[in-house]
Amino acid sequence: MKVIILENAYEISKQAAEIFIKQINKKPGSVLGFATGASPVETYKRIIESYEKGEVSLKHITTFNLDEYADLDRENVNSYYYFMKDNLFGKTDVDFNKVNFLAGVKHEDAEAECKRYYEKIKEEGGIDIQLLGIGTNGHIGFNEPGEEFMDTPFLVKLTQSTIDSNKKYFEAVGTEMPGYALTMGVGDIMRSKKIVLIATGASKAKAIKELIEGEVTPHCPASILKLHSDVTVFLDKESASLLGDR
Ligand code: F6R
Repeated sequence: MKVIILENAYEISKQAAEIFIKQINKKPGSVLGFATGASPVETYKRIIESYEKGEVSLKHITTFNLDEYADLDRENVNSYYYFMKDNLFGKTDVDFNKVNFLAGVKHEDAEAECKRYYEKIKEEGGIDIQLLGIGTNGHIGFNEPGEEFMDTPFLVKLTQSTIDSNKKYFEAVGTEMPGYALTMGVGDIMRSKKIVLIATGASKAKAIKELIEGEVTPHCPASILKLHSDVTVFLDKESASLLGDR
């Protein structure tokens, strides 16, 4: 794992965006995995800036997002589809026909939806670069801490820690946060050819210490990334604050 500690989120975003821009310019039809949440927002801004300057076109990329809330319409302001439209796709020339998402279906339809997504990733030849954030509890995608690593997409019951971190977005519009989500499995993430993880802020310090210095365990799902041969972890000083001397 390559660990890069930078001054702040802005410095991280410049380097992380550069990895994606280089990849797209090398292979315009790249298959890219994206994440939602606060961590990637700055990186998306840098990609948009490059697009606006004519330095990169996203027209031919195929995208897969990590996760989506269950039983939530994609036009809901808190859906992850909406987030991506708002923070990246809608501000670039992304071809929405090449945008792939786990649909926020009801529980009874989750199994078929997860199977469809797994097959679609396979059909596209796998993901070239997957962008990740990390939960305060060590989750990646919505792979919550537990007894086993999940391989393929599945319906997950969100932990209290995740609900506590994300309910503000739902409270802001007076709705309740769904208790379940559909997510790529750890296996889907690990099959990506390259992985870029971004973590900022003191609330991520404990999860980052477990990821980098702890053992590989499903109690910290991100810890499995140690077994991948091409992972770059971008940290700011706060998220790196519990790491031993490096
Ligand atoms: C989002 C996702 C989550 C987030 C994580 C960190 O698609 O899969 O794993 O990356 O919860 O969220 P932020 O960046 O909001 O702290």
